Amino acid sequence: MKIAVVGTGYVGLVTGTCFAETGNQVICVDIDAAKVARLKQGELPIYEPGLDVLFHRNIEEDRLKFTTSLVEGIKDAEVIFLALPTPPGENGSADLKYILGVAKDLGPLLENYAVIVDKSTVPVGTAEKVRAAIAANAKVDFDVVSNPEFLREGVAVEDFMKPDRVVIGTSSETAKKVMEKLYAPLVRQGNPVIFMDERSAEMTKYAANSFLALKITFMNEIANLCEKVGADVDDIRRGIGTDSRIGKRFLFAGIGYGGSCFPKDVQALAKTSQEYDYDFRMLNSVMAVNDDQKKKLLPIVRKHFDGNLKGKKIAVWGLAFKPHTDDIREAPALENIVALLEEGATVLAYDPEAMENTKRLISNVTYTHSAYDALDKADALMIFTEWPQFRTPDFAKMAELMNDKVIFDGRNLYELKQIREHGFLYYSIGRET
Ligand code: UGA
Repeated sequence: MKIAVVGTGYVGLVTGTCFAETGNQVICVDIDAAKVARLKQGELPIYEPGLDVLFHRNIEEDRLKFTTSLVEGIKDAEVIFLALPTPPGENGSADLKYILGVAKDLGPLLENYAVIVDKSTVPVGTAEKVRAAIAANAKVDFDVVSNPEFLREGVAVEDFMKPDRVVIGTSSETAKKVMEKLYAPLVRQGNPVIFMDERSAEMTKYAANSFLALKITFMNEIANLCEKVGADVDDIRRGIGTDSRIGKRFLFAGIGYGGSCFPKDVQALAKTSQEYDYDFRMLNSVMAVNDDQKKKLLPIVRKHFDGNLKGKKIAVWGLAFKPHTDDIREAPALENIVALLEEGATVLAYDPEAMENTKRLISNVTYTHSAYDALDKADALMIFTEWPQFRTPDFAKMAELMNDKVIFDGRNLYELKQIREHGFLYYSIGRET
C-alpha cells in the first residue's frame, strides 16, 4: 500500500519505518526542512533501540522516503497518518492546532479516496473535528479513523511490530477494510484488531495511560504506607502481581512516573471530565500523589544531612525519565537536581543517553564520563533511573570512591541484604532503611 505519515516526531518515525518494513511504500512529511534533509541522508534524530536498522534498510530498499511537501507526500496515498504534536494547551487540554492545520490543508489536495488516520493522542471528539476541517474544502470522498498508538519509548519497535492489540475507531466499512489489510502482517500471532467508534478509540488511549499511571501511583502509595508500618513493597508487589486479575506489570514503586505521555494524558483526561461536568476524583489524586512522589527523597536527604546541603557533593545516576531513552521530559531527576543545587549542594551526574539533553536545561552540574566518575568524593549517591548498568555495580569500588557510603535509591535497584553487606546506608522506596 502507499502510505503517507505527516509529522516525523517519535510516533511518526516509528510508524513510518515499521510500515515500510511490512512492505508498504511510505513517505514521511515534515515542515522542518533541516530535519527532512537529515532524514534523507539517513540520520535518525531520535534514540530508539532497534529503529536504526529498520530505518536504514527501508531507505536503502526504497520503501521509506521523506519530503517537506504535503502535496508530494499524499499523492496517491491510500492511508494518511497524522502523527503531529498535541502539546498541552493553556487550560490543560491537548492543543489541536497542528492537527487541524494539516487537516485544513489536506481537503483541497485529496485527489482520490483516502483514509486519514489520527495517530496522535487526541481528546474525544477530535476525529469529528478533523473530518469537518477536511470536508470544508474536499473534492473527493474520504474517511477519518482514530488509531491510537500504545508504543513505549525504548521498546517502541517491538510494541509496534508485535502489538498486544490494535485499536481502530471508525464507522466506515471501507476504512475498516483498508486498516485491516494494513495491520494484517502485525497481528498474525492472534492478537486482535479491535474495532469501535471513533470516540471510544480516542477514549481508549486516555483510559489505558491513565489506568497505568493509576496502577503505578497506587503502588507508590502502598510503598509510602509500607515505610510507616514496616512492610516491604517488593514483597507486596510479588504477592499481588501473581494474581492474574492484577498482573505483574507496572507495579514497580519508585520516584513517580514521568515522560511525555502519562503526565499529559492524565491531565488531559481530567480536563475532558471537567468539560463534561464529571468529577473524576481518582485522576486528581493520581496527579497530586505523583507530584509529591517525585520529590519524595528530598526531605530524607535533608534529614540525613541535618538540614544543610551546603557544600555537600551529591552523585546522581540516571537523568532520563526511564531507561533506554534520552528523553528527560517530566523526569524526576531534574526537579531533584534543581532543588539540590538551590540548597547549595554540588552535583555530579551520569546517564548513558540523556546527558546532552539535560545539559541544555541545567548547566551548573558536572556531567561525568562514567557512573563511577560521578562518585568521586561524593557524600551520597541518588538514583533516579533504573539503567541496567546501575543494577550490578562494583560496590567495593563505589565505597572506595565515595566520601561516605550513602545511597538514596528512587528505583529500588538493590537487595537490602546485599547492600548492607557492603556497608552502605541505603534509603529506598517502600522498604526498610
Ligand atoms: C506510555 C505507555 O506505556 C505506552 O503504552 C503509550 O503508548 C505511551 O505512554 C504514549 O502514550 O505514547 P512511555 O511514556 O514511553 O509509554 O513509558 P512507560 O514505560 O509507560 O513509563 C512511564 C513512566 O512510568 C516512567 O517514568 C516509568 O519509570 C514509570 N513506571 C513504569 C513506574 O514508575 N513503575 C512501573 O512499574 C512502570
